[in-house]
Amino acid sequence: MSTERLISFIQDYYKTTEFIPLHAPQFEGNERKYVLDTLDSTFVSTVGAYVDRFEKQVADYTKAKYAVATVNGTAALHIALLLAGVKMGDLVITQALTFVATCNAISYLGAEPVFVDVNIETLGLCPIALLEFLDQECVVREQACFHKSGKRIRAVVVMHTFGHPAKVDELLSTCKKYFIELIEDAAESLGSLYKDQHTGTFAKTSALSFNGNKVITTGGGGMILSREKSIADKAKHVTTTAKQPHPYEFYHDEIAFNYRMPNINAALGCAQLEQLNDYIENKRMLASLYQSELIASELEFIVEPKGARSNYWLNAVICPSKKYRDEMLTKTNQAGVMTRPVWQLIHTLPMFKDSLRGNLDNSIYLADRLVNMPSSVSLT
Ligand SMILES: Cc1ncc(COP(=O)(O)O)c(C=O)c1O
Repeated sequence: MSTERLISFIQDYYKTTEFIPLHAPQFEGNERKYVLDTLDSTFVSTVGAYVDRFEKQVADYTKAKYAVATVNGTAALHIALLLAGVKMGDLVITQALTFVATCNAISYLGAEPVFVDVNIETLGLCPIALLEFLDQECVVREQACFHKSGKRIRAVVVMHTFGHPAKVDELLSTCKKYFIELIEDAAESLGSLYKDQHTGTFAKTSALSFNGNKVITTGGGGMILSREKSIADKAKHVTTTAKQPHPYEFYHDEIAFNYRMPNINAALGCAQLEQLNDYIENKRMLASLYQSELIASELEFIVEPKGARSNYWLNAVICPSKKYRDEMLTKTNQAGVMTRPVWQLIHTLPMFKDSLRGNLDNSIYLADRLVNMPSSVSLT
């Protein structure tokens, strides 16, 4: 299929020849009503009924036992890593093919990321590559995993890329064998299931994002999911400046963070969540249209992994070469159809260029060839 034909297909789908964004939010439900409620009540900030309601609704939706709302997904990841015990000088294994926030959160704690390859089918951390890295480079001593450099491997962060679930059960069993905590960066995968279970509920602690470009948005926002009450309580405590509850005294029992989601953002989230199932149906329909349109073309459309139900947050294709990818990016963007390459691999960024890494062949292959296609929900 020529790029010109693909552009026409996308313009026909969105019924416009004007600019088509990669992923735009929709506010067609109760968003205005709920946000106005917060203005009328004056509860726009970190205390308010919508924050509690949003947490409860996300916990119910995902079947995570507990949910703690944060100012953004990066803050949620930061706290998830903190509560996993990640400390200065530790190593945390993750993907090089991820958004930089995953690795920034690791660095906030003085730890360093170690990059292991992604699986070519799921685009998430590869269980085989993880096991190989641990078998070859690490040892277990007294129920703790150490890299041959002497540094402790404290955690593994898997990211469910573009909403496609990673093989999280296999990762979990390897982590257990090596006494490492698994954390899910589920920023992109709200509504995605792996073996009928919601992503973000396999690990003890996970992070969601409600940034403006995500499947639902609170403007800016995130959520820590956990199945352990002690973790959820601690997460709430350290995201609210570690203030001890008291009718009027200000007593804070440790250095902590001002990471609580404001009520005005949570109001938006409650309204968006009411529409999430419709959004996902709509996005899955678009994905199947892309898939049939591209079936006989040189572009490989990325489908949900076996055993998974993806939210298809961002649709993606793999081009036959980097040259083809570059031409396609140029032509589509010139025509006002917003497409994007995948993130620059994290180990190539200046801050992480010296980080430890395993073989990254799949990540490099994908980084050279992958293009994200317009994926907004279309209400027309
Ligand atoms: C994989 C991944 N991790 C973390 C984040 C950080 O979320 P936020 O932008 O809400 O801080 C994002 C998205 O923005 C993301 O895509």
